[in-house]
Amino acid sequence: MKKIAIFASGTGSNARKLVEHFQQHAHIKIALIASNKPHAPVLNMAKEHQIPVLVFDKKKFTDTDSVLPELQNHGIDFIVLAGFLWLIPEVLIRHYPKRMINLHPALLPKYGGKGMYGMRVHEAVRAANETETGITIHYVNSAYDEGAIIFQKSCPVLAKDTPEDIAAKIHVLEHGSLPMVTERLVRDLGDRVLG
Ligand code: GRF
Repeated sequence: MKKIAIFASGTGSNARKLVEHFQQHAHIKIALIASNKPHAPVLNMAKEHQIPVLVFDKKKFTDTDSVLPELQNHGIDFIVLAGFLWLIPEVLIRHYPKRMINLHPALLPKYGGKGMYGMRVHEAVRAANETETGITIHYVNSAYDEGAIIFQKSCPVLAKDTPEDIAAKIHVLEHGSLPMVTERLVRDLGDRVLG
């Protein structure tokens, strides 16, 4: 069984899609949901599904001897960042090379980097009068939103679309793509491990 940890600090709609997608999976399971927000709605969803949770503050997160051993205790093979905003410490990046992905609500390299998250992204897309936007799934490295791009999908931005309309379109793309892309990556991981 390959085990995935999801890092999320928001409502966790993408985390829920992942949980539902892998619920009956024979070889892949969501084994941990981690958050820096003790009251994040995503943690209630984890409890509903009897998925262990890990909550940390900034000190614990950046402490080299803390989060990694917890992930190892849960046997985590792969990490998905879905609405997680902190920069990932080097120790985790080193330990999960090509085994940690982030979901970003724009077509990187546009509208990425520190401070570019959530509605800020969609407001910037609107302000620039873009005619399309989309989602990016990329590997995580030590700079915000700069790891190698794995998958992108775009959608049109209409002149009448508000940032909220754009956000809704983006969520549809995310929900439709993240579980499938995650499954493919984790399956390939299994193939590599088995040789
Ligand atoms: C998603 O739009 C994702 O692209 C971004 O954070 C958002 C999380 O949304 N990184 P949700 O909490 O999964 O609804």
